[in-house]
Amino acid sequence: MLRSHTCGELRISNVGQTVTISGWVQGVRDKGSLLWIDLRDRYGITQITIETDKASKELVDVARSLGREFVISVTGIVAERYSKSDKLPTGDIEITSDKITILNSALVPPFTIEDETDGGDDIRMKYRYLDLRRNAVRKNLELRHRIAIETRNYLDKLNFLEVETPVLIKSTPEGARDFVVPSRMNQGEFYALPQSPQTFKQLLMVGGFDRYYQIVKCFRDEDLRADRQPEFTQIDCEMSFVEQEDILNTFEGMIRHLFKSVKGIDIPTLSRMTYADAMKFYGNDKPDIRFEMKFVELNEVVKGKEFKVFNDAELVVGICAKGAAEYTRKQLDELTEFVKRPQIGATGLIYARFNADGTIKSSVDKFYNEEDLKKWAVAFDAQPGDLMMLIAGETNKARKALSELRLEMGTRLGLRDKNTFACHWVIDFPLLEFSEEVDSTSIGEKGGRWHAKHHPFTSPKPEDIELLESNPGAVRANAYDLVINGVEIGGGSIRIHDKNLQAKMFSLLGFSKEDAQAQFGFLMNAFEFGAPPHGGLAFGFDRLCSLFGGADGIRDFIAFPKNNSGRDPMINSPSAIAQAQLDELMIQLKK
Ligand code: AMO
Repeated sequence: MLRSHTCGELRISNVGQTVTISGWVQGVRDKGSLLWIDLRDRYGITQITIETDKASKELVDVARSLGREFVISVTGIVAERYSKSDKLPTGDIEITSDKITILNSALVPPFTIEDETDGGDDIRMKYRYLDLRRNAVRKNLELRHRIAIETRNYLDKLNFLEVETPVLIKSTPEGARDFVVPSRMNQGEFYALPQSPQTFKQLLMVGGFDRYYQIVKCFRDEDLRADRQPEFTQIDCEMSFVEQEDILNTFEGMIRHLFKSVKGIDIPTLSRMTYADAMKFYGNDKPDIRFEMKFVELNEVVKGKEFKVFNDAELVVGICAKGAAEYTRKQLDELTEFVKRPQIGATGLIYARFNADGTIKSSVDKFYNEEDLKKWAVAFDAQPGDLMMLIAGETNKARKALSELRLEMGTRLGLRDKNTFACHWVIDFPLLEFSEEVDSTSIGEKGGRWHAKHHPFTSPKPEDIELLESNPGAVRANAYDLVINGVEIGGGSIRIHDKNLQAKMFSLLGFSKEDAQAQFGFLMNAFEFGAPPHGGLAFGFDRLCSLFGGADGIRDFIAFPKNNSGRDPMINSPSAIAQAQLDELMIQLKK
């Protein structure tokens, strides 16, 4: 070993010992008669001291030749520091060095390897191996490791088996876009990388595996956002002989175990909210319930005056921001601009201040007198000091815009603390949603078609099956999402395990019998050989890690992530391939 201890290990109890430590030079300070080196590894930083008038010339020369990020090995005696530092766990000691070996030199790094680095995103991604040396990124990956270990501990105790499923699979038209891989041995044919192991885990259930999990890479060619990567990791799980309740309980247990074992936090029993309520009260299928500010529907209260905007609207809906009546005109104008941004899409914002003196002043005083506004306040359960904010329009659009405003107000009012965790289930998702988008399998009057809201293997609620033909949009699914702080951390469902029901589902989704057989025949055939009732879910592992780490994005919880254009600037991928490779694969690029 080139070290007896790590750079984070030595304490006052080690004083007097001769030790060897190895690592990277964080910095050198040269005060003439004294020279200090900060040596860093994964575990911490230790100070090395050289008294230049006492040390050999050779040692001093080596020390003076060191640059940042040189890799060295240092031998010396642990001494108590004259001026201690309480910033470092090793701050009570230093090593009086008598030997330094340079193991490797280093170029000057393109950004400082400090907690607060001067490197922008692009440069840090290009030199990711240097970024990984920074505390912040390393801590995130340590957290990721801990969560993975605790996940395995919990599931192993419950008899779940970790089984690997293939990565070269088959492209299917449902879901996001596939990444595809050409097959040399089967020319003109392609594998697809799995968007999730969904069908394989169901086949494992048919295979009798009973309780499966896998911490597994998934691939989706979709537009990227802070919480989306083209390749990401799921904690993917499936169980046989269970109902929805069993799954919710098992994985509520897992989440509680993770919070307790990794963060030392006791999470209260998870509440459950139906999808319909989530949309009605929060305008969102993943409500952030760290704070209340529920929607109040106001059609009954506000319609019938001269105000056309409200009279013409399908829905008038609002929120009451506690203690925000003192918002200035400028702040309210800002919020109005915020909801009018194209990605939010409201036509405007109406507000009413319930002043501390009990008066109420609105932005539509022309149409609503004080008496009217008092009725608003009653509907909102507003108190003096509160600000009422209303949005009007087509139901879904008004809800979506108000949902964004609610989150913005939550942030502005400091109600979204990263160290507070509000976990809950959203249940009873609709089975299907209609999309106007025309694709190769489109059916229906408008050219669009029904899509599976979760995926085509999700089972309808038995009591809603009779609506499948007459009113598909009203059919609820045995599907559930785990939401934490407004982030969809996981989702799953009870599956269809009956061939006929599965065939009916494909037909509703616009597949001909032949297409369904060609795409998913393997699964429907398997259902004819004794498929147990089964269900499961998958957690977004990267999202869970970033939530535990108190971050907004998932990128810094992945060792080698892609940038927003789906590129890895370090290895410069994706990249062109040689003509010979293309020829071998019989691929001709369009000029
Ligand atoms: P779903 O598509 O909901 O379900 O995915 C499960 C969870 O994976 C996470 N996730 C992502 N994380 C990062 N980047 C992405 N691009 C990305 N896409 C999804 C989310 C999400 O909740 N097979 C089903 C699960 C099942 O039914 O058992 C599935 O994949 O946190």
